[in-house]
Amino acid sequence: MKTKLFLLLTATVVMLSSCLKDDSKTFTQGYKSEDYEVIKASLNLPLEVDKYTLQLPEVLGSFTVAANDKQATLGRVLFYDKRLSSTNEVNCASCHLAEKAFTDGEQFSPGVTSERTSRNTLALGTFPSFNAYYGFGGTRMFWDNRASSVMEQSEETMKNPVEMGNTDLKEVYNELIQERYYQILFENAFPSNQNSFMTNEEKMLSAIQSFVSSIGCFNSRYDQELIEHKGRKEDTFASFTAQENRGKQLYNTNCASCHNLGAVAFSTGIVAANNGLDLNYSDEGIGEISHDPLQMGVFKVPMLRNVELTAPYMHDGRFATLEQVVEHYSSGVKDHPNLHEKLKSGGSPKNLNLNEDDKQALVAFLKTLTDRNSLLASRYSDPFKH
Ligand code: HEC
Ligand code: HEC
Repeated sequence: MKTKLFLLLTATVVMLSSCLKDDSKTFTQGYKSEDYEVIKASLNLPLEVDKYTLQLPEVLGSFTVAANDKQATLGRVLFYDKRLSSTNEVNCASCHLAEKAFTDGEQFSPGVTSERTSRNTLALGTFPSFNAYYGFGGTRMFWDNRASSVMEQSEETMKNPVEMGNTDLKEVYNELIQERYYQILFENAFPSNQNSFMTNEEKMLSAIQSFVSSIGCFNSRYDQELIEHKGRKEDTFASFTAQENRGKQLYNTNCASCHNLGAVAFSTGIVAANNGLDLNYSDEGIGEISHDPLQMGVFKVPMLRNVELTAPYMHDGRFATLEQVVEHYSSGVKDHPNLHEKLKSGGSPKNLNLNEDDKQALVAFLKTLTDRNSLLASRYSDPFKH
């Protein structure tokens, strides 16, 4: 039974997509009618459970991010439930709003106290599952990569005194399970005769993980063209303006080695780097934890899908606009001892010295990575009837 838990905790990416599709037909995905009456009184959930499994297009590796739909549905409800915080005022969506690619537009975010988070909120839903973006073994959460799964991340967030302020997740579960609809949703997601090896806290966290990992956005204008061109990112894209195509060229040459937009699962992409924001960092990122001099000022390389929607930018939200970000790479890269090789030439910081047209082209290209429709899918939305 432990192996089952292990599988759940680690990658749920399955290569055999055809098998999965066949399976899903044979499951009964609805609720018993008396159960659905209870659910319907408080929650906007469809009778037929939403499908959370994602099939990536061939150009992105064509693998399947398998989800247990009933667990992801429970995860969705938990994601939007303010009772997950000590004050009953903060839910995951307080800081992760769907319409902003699951960020909140704040430099630092308010939680359960008058304090704010020490870092800028990271986007969710910029790519189907973190494994797909960062590669197996490379999946790390947070700007300093300190969590290795969404379960670990969520537990930390719920217990963080500034964010959600809980000391004991058992209490949270005990409060929630008083609700009849949670009794139904938990039993559906984790039938008690099959899941005796899991604690209730693990069920909660695992459901949240299923939901968060299922958020996928790969239908941007860029993705549509990439599919059309069978992954040849160097091609001129017909539906792009000349400016966007120029921006794409600049991106491919100067940015894509770190901010990969293709299939990187199974590869060893650059998942963390110093990008020369400062000579001295007040927040040392991964180095804060490891104390390794070579990791001082090193941060996670964030995903840029939907980047148009995730301002402000960088771990400390220092840049309000994409223009400012581009200016950084054009003229502001600092000679930090750990500055990544890709941002150096001849041992010195490589500032791109772009002209105005090229700066604008790069920004125009970054906006082709936006996929609003996927973010606004009802299966990711707030299910509570307020
Ligand atoms: C008070 C605001 C706040 C709340 C509430 C909050 N988050 Fe976050 N979230 C953040 C911030 C800030 C970060 C980046 C923190 C860091 O890197 O140290 C983050 C990071 C994450 C990440 C890591 C993403 C990545 O690419 O590494 C995930 C996943 C996540 N949050 C999910 C959740 C879930 C699920 C919940 C609810 C259980 C939640 N968050 C509640 C602010 C919040
Ligand atoms: C050496 C790897 C590397 C290269 C090359 C690189 N970046 Fe970055 N980028 C990073 C890292 C690391 C961060 C996060 C740094 C931090 O917050 O301290 C980042 C952050 C960003 C962000 C902020 C995203 C967010 O959610 O806050 C944007 C936008 C961005 N880069 C765009 C670009 C563009 C455009 C280029 C090419 C001109 C580029 N990057 C080249 C590593 C790189």
